[in-house]
Amino acid sequence: MRIDVLTIFPDYLAPLELSLAGKAREKGLIDVRVHDLRAWTHDRHRTVDDTPYGGGAGMVMKPEPWGEALDELLADGPATVVFTTPSGQPFTQAVARELATRERIVFACGRYEGIDQRVIDEVGSRAEVREISLGDYVLNGGEVAALAVTEAVVRLVPGFMGNAESLTEESHEDGLLEYPVYTKPASWRGLDVPPVLLSGDHAAIAAWRRDQAVRRTAARRPDLLPASTLLDDVEIRPVE
Ligand code: ADE
Repeated sequence: MRIDVLTIFPDYLAPLELSLAGKAREKGLIDVRVHDLRAWTHDRHRTVDDTPYGGGAGMVMKPEPWGEALDELLADGPATVVFTTPSGQPFTQAVARELATRERIVFACGRYEGIDQRVIDEVGSRAEVREISLGDYVLNGGEVAALAVTEAVVRLVPGFMGNAESLTEESHEDGLLEYPVYTKPASWRGLDVPPVLLSGDHAAIAAWRRDQAVRRTAARRPDLLPASTLLDDVEIRPVE
């Protein structure tokens, strides 16, 4: 998978060299290229923004540098173009799974009040475009969102994770939050690991974990529970 990132702050993407994504790069599973949008400006001040038509606070990113940058990157072949913006579709594990199937992703990281809408409309006429939000809060720009989306997507690329089971068992993969986990010692500061986990009874352990996952989800994220029978035999009480 090739990932290009267009930003006016290329240094923001330095963490891509580290840990998970860095490992994927070493293995040759992903090819990440970070580009400074200002390379596609032509004035002395390398201007990327201007005042909004219609008035209002803040600045809007000018279309020309974006258009030229996207022309150049898309000339290498088809790609999914992801605009990171608080007005995008919420980023979820399902979106991560979908993006993990793509050969190429180009992240366009907006700053200020956003990018001139014509950039998104124009590139949408010649490439798959996704507008993605990290959540219902406003960051200073889309770089952190591009990092987060990259990390969530790259770990789903086949061959990346050593243990495929840990992918299917984690939070959100089955639509529920993950059950609580424990490791040795069995007793710590007077707190014991739930006895069922020491029982060796795999069916009982699976049932306990499912029950805990449903309880947690009901307490913390009831919006994730469909109007289903999941809760039929679960007593709902708050999770600390
Ligand atoms: N840029 C600013 N805020 C953002 C958010 N919540 N998600 C994605 N990109 C953003």
